[in-house]
Amino acid sequence: MVSVILARRASAVHSGPIDDLFAALAHRPEVISFAVGAPDPAVFPRAAVMAPLVETAIGKYGPAVLQYGKTQGWPPMLDQARTLLRQRHIHCSLDKIHISTGASGALHNVAMAMLDPGDVVLVETPTYEPAIKTFRSFGATAVAVDCDALGLLPDALDAALARHRPAFVYALPTFQNPTGRTMPASRRAEVAEVILRRGVVLVEDDVYSDLRYDGAPIPAFWSFAPENTVYITSLSKTFAPAMRIGIVVMPPHLLDSVFAFKQSIDMQTSSFCQAIAAEFLAGPEAGAHLADVVSVYARKLDKLSSALRDHLPPEFRWTRPEGGMFIWVEGPRTFDADATLRRALDAGVAFLPGKTFYTNPEAHGSTFRLSFAGVEEDMIRPGIELLGELCAQ
Ligand SMILES: Cc1ncc(COP(=O)(O)O)c(C=O)c1O
Repeated sequence: MVSVILARRASAVHSGPIDDLFAALAHRPEVISFAVGAPDPAVFPRAAVMAPLVETAIGKYGPAVLQYGKTQGWPPMLDQARTLLRQRHIHCSLDKIHISTGASGALHNVAMAMLDPGDVVLVETPTYEPAIKTFRSFGATAVAVDCDALGLLPDALDAALARHRPAFVYALPTFQNPTGRTMPASRRAEVAEVILRRGVVLVEDDVYSDLRYDGAPIPAFWSFAPENTVYITSLSKTFAPAMRIGIVVMPPHLLDSVFAFKQSIDMQTSSFCQAIAAEFLAGPEAGAHLADVVSVYARKLDKLSSALRDHLPPEFRWTRPEGGMFIWVEGPRTFDADATLRRALDAGVAFLPGKTFYTNPEAHGSTFRLSFAGVEEDMIRPGIELLGELCAQ
């Protein structure tokens, strides 16, 4: 028998309780799950939309669309990316844009190009857990910076930058996962002032900004500090995650390094998927599709907010987000989200304990995240009714 010896850094990325929860839920379709942050498959484009896109991509570009392609991206997809970026106030030349394998691929490759073992990455409190794993997988440590309801606190960030001299700062200014909060323009400007003064890079993870249900769009953080920001977005939440299309904007010297790494990982993001996505974005369906997705999720958010108002005990605090997929709940200190989840699964409802999103999980056992995108609309109220009873116990 061959004995496989894992790299030491593999111990930093082992699967944990969330993976166990998702595995358990896969076998329990009857559970009303607010746990998984995936889109609703009912809003994915239908065969009637996808089949002509495939036909057009092959007809228009021939075998090239099935061939190896440029690491930077499929040129028509790069053009579409530039249009999408302009809508978010990101005006940059084409040579700074790259089509990655999802936002996850972009984050991984940026981390690979920028992190050395022992480095620090400053993150929000709480933050997107898979990013913590990514940073740890390169031997770096995620250090949390205090936040309020508007995101990173500029003074706390300033102090943390002076103390830790991080490789970069990682932030989700719009419809944050897990809290749903959004950094207003005034806070973005204050954070940008700190970032520019300290001469550090901020990696902006922005996969939810098109899912806005209330309020006016806010320019991407990138537009407040273009030279110091790596901007990452993707089509996973608005088109389909399986296409694995990410869009990244970064300084050219970083991009060169990312390309060198990517060539040894997957060479390029699938030309075929990029061609299909480019045809979709250029075609007449994209606008109506996004409007549909937004209206379905806005309805679900309404239902979840009203169910929480009716059924969650008053000592549980939550805020309705202006967009995205999540509502964040903070229970009283005595509330134990892990123990409640065990009872909730028996009762037929699931949520994600919030401690998983913290660099010091043990101190945050009374929080949880509710994801509304994937839950069937009619199941939202019954699910929250069950959860409300468990929280009241
Ligand atoms: C904040 C955040 N970043 C990145 C991703 C990954 O996106 P992608 O499917 O584009 O890799 C997700 C997915 O849930 C996310 O919530």
